[in-house]
Amino acid sequence: MARRRQIYEGKAKILFEGPEPGTIVQYFKDDATAGNGAKSGVITGKGVLNNRISEFLMLKLRDIGIPTHFIKRLNMREQLVRAVEIIPLEVVVRNVAAGSLSKRFGIEEGTRLPRPLVEFYYKNDALNDPMVSEEHITAFNWACAHDLDDICGYAVRVNDFLCGLFAGVGITLVDFKLEFGRVWDNDEMRIVLADEISPDNCRLWDARTNEKLDKDRFRRDMGRVEEAYQEVARRLGILPETGYGENMATENHA
Ligand SMILES: Nc1ncnc2c1ncn2[C@@H]1O[C@H](COP(=O)(O)OP(=O)(O)O)[C@@H](O)[C@H]1O
Ligand SMILES: [Mg+2]
Repeated sequence: MARRRQIYEGKAKILFEGPEPGTIVQYFKDDATAGNGAKSGVITGKGVLNNRISEFLMLKLRDIGIPTHFIKRLNMREQLVRAVEIIPLEVVVRNVAAGSLSKRFGIEEGTRLPRPLVEFYYKNDALNDPMVSEEHITAFNWACAHDLDDICGYAVRVNDFLCGLFAGVGITLVDFKLEFGRVWDNDEMRIVLADEISPDNCRLWDARTNEKLDKDRFRRDMGRVEEAYQEVARRLGILPETGYGENMATENHA
């Protein structure tokens, strides 16, 4: 097969020119980084799992009326998406305190927040993705107030829906990161959900034991990273019940 033209290589994915204009192929790598590249490694099989998990979640979100870039999965590691103009923001939604929120405000990890929090970070590796306010976003023209309304509305709906979906399979959705982009249909600009939704950018805890089933296992050298991703896929019904990660949820970390 003729090699496709590579557009971009990121930390977790490679983008190739798609078969039609306005399309892109996202190739999911096994590479993992944390702390903005300070730590890097490989999680064997991660790309395959994230491709499947992200497909599954994007399709569910499309079903409830969230516009997404997702077109179709092509194979184990690749999916076809609409090319978008990425809005340079990481939109983080949090339900339970963890990670940088816990550090910044001294809130113990695991504390349920009074209501979901939506935060924005400027997507810029060189600057370490600094947290920004809506004021910064509109002043620097990353998005206008109307775009932000759409983005916040979608982020909250995605959160409500995914909280329920994960709760149904015994998982607490602690927090997650979304990226949005712009597409033009004729002269009409629309905001759509882009990038990926996977255990790379969600915190997912077993609802009963609080065991981590996400990239924090890699960030914090907890081991059994691959098994955690497999467990998420298995619970979502994506992987057959093969016994992979069978004990993930029953381990006692007391
Ligand atoms: N539909 C899309 N069109 C164009 N760019 C996209 C789309 N979806 C995601 N992207 C961008 O592609 C890159 C995905 O690769 P990734 O490895 O996650 O990169 P990064 O290291 O920049 O996070 C990201 O920079 C993301 O913003
Ligand atoms: Mg990324």
